[in-house]
Amino acid sequence: MAELTLDLRDLPKAEAYATLATHVAHVLEGIDDPIAGMATIAALVHHAFGNLWTGFYRVVERDRATHPTPLLRIGPYQGTLGCLEIEFGRGVCGTAAAEGRTIIVPDVVTFPGHIVCDPLARSEIVVPVYGPDGALMAVFDLDAAHPGAFGPVDAAGLETIVGWFGATVRRLSSADRGR
Ligand code: SME
Repeated sequence: MAELTLDLRDLPKAEAYATLATHVAHVLEGIDDPIAGMATIAALVHHAFGNLWTGFYRVVERDRATHPTPLLRIGPYQGTLGCLEIEFGRGVCGTAAAEGRTIIVPDVVTFPGHIVCDPLARSEIVVPVYGPDGALMAVFDLDAAHPGAFGPVDAAGLETIVGWFGATVRRLSSADRGR
């Protein structure tokens, strides 16, 4: 059963996230590769809830002499074309990365500096993703086509799911960090 892609839209959200967290753990059993994890989690979360966009932006290091902050670069995702690179501190993703906290945006027009990748996006949630060394390795971004799609239950559910990276992913080599 672990290989199935579940549609959980008929369940209460908390129950859906609990089911999804168990499912993710089953599907990824024996896997410790971060990109495999991102691709699998993006697919499962996307199809569980049917949002507009579901995916990861990875933290990539740059030459510190010229760029004091790292960059967010697109990772595995499902949905329409995502922006390729986002600076720390910019948009919802860059703000979540820079501040290391989950950000819920009930209506994207009210978030100063929101970056439009798909004009159909109306609300958004971005969750920081930490690796086994406790360092920020990515953010997980979900966009919905209607306002107010995300709340605290989503934040808790998604934070639990991306906890897989801290618990399971092998220590990242420089190659994994995109240098
Ligand atoms: N809206 C995001 C950009 C990423 S896309 O939505 C996929 C932001 O403001 O950071």
